[in-house]
Amino acid sequence: MQVIIFDDAQQVADSAAKWVAELINKKAKPVLGLATGSTPISLYQALVKKYQTEEISFKDTCTFNLDEYLGIDENNVQSYRHFMNTNLFDHVDIDKSKTFLPTCAQGENPRAQGLAYEQMIKEAGGIDLQILGIGANGHIGFNEPTSSLASRTRIKTLTQQTLTDNSRLFSADEFQPTLAMTMGIATILDARYVLLMATGENKAKAVKDMVTGAVSAMCPASALQMHENAIVLLDKAAASQLE
Ligand code: F6R
Repeated sequence: MQVIIFDDAQQVADSAAKWVAELINKKAKPVLGLATGSTPISLYQALVKKYQTEEISFKDTCTFNLDEYLGIDENNVQSYRHFMNTNLFDHVDIDKSKTFLPTCAQGENPRAQGLAYEQMIKEAGGIDLQILGIGANGHIGFNEPTSSLASRTRIKTLTQQTLTDNSRLFSADEFQPTLAMTMGIATILDARYVLLMATGENKAKAVKDMVTGAVSAMCPASALQMHENAIVLLDKAAASQLE
């Protein structure tokens, strides 16, 4: 695991954008794994800028998101599809038919949907670079603590901590989903490179457990210690508990 500490969150985003741009410019058919949440927003802004200045084009890029809520459809403003459209896809030349999120609509078989998502990733050639954030409880994707390190795409129930952490994004009268379809930890570990971004003091404990703790299902991000090409980009606040 390679840990790089920057002065601030903007430098984390700029560095992540460089990794993504390098991949996109190097590979004929890049396959990107994407994350939602507050952390990667500035990465997506940096990528949109690079597109506008013609440093990169997304026309041959295929993307797979880590996760999607259950119980709301893709037109809902809280859906991760909506998040990806408004933060990235609507502003670049990506072919949206090559952008995927793991979904399971009412009546669909979760196991079949999970297997189909894994199969689509395989058929695309596997994920070249997976972008990750980290939950304050050490989750990656929605692989909450106690998730099997061998897990694959499936439905997870969100922990109370994650629901509380994310409640800032929902208004009082808005439905906040408690279930999500998420890539598993083993799915994430299959990516050729993983790039985890963490910023802010509230991530410092999870970052410490991920980097210096035991590899354990209690801190799902610690599984990245087993990945040959895991890069962790931190600002000073997120790195503040590392010795
Ligand atoms: C999002 C995701 C989550 C977030 C994590 C951190 O697709 O999979 O694991 O990366 O919850 O979220 P933020 O960046 O909002 O602190």
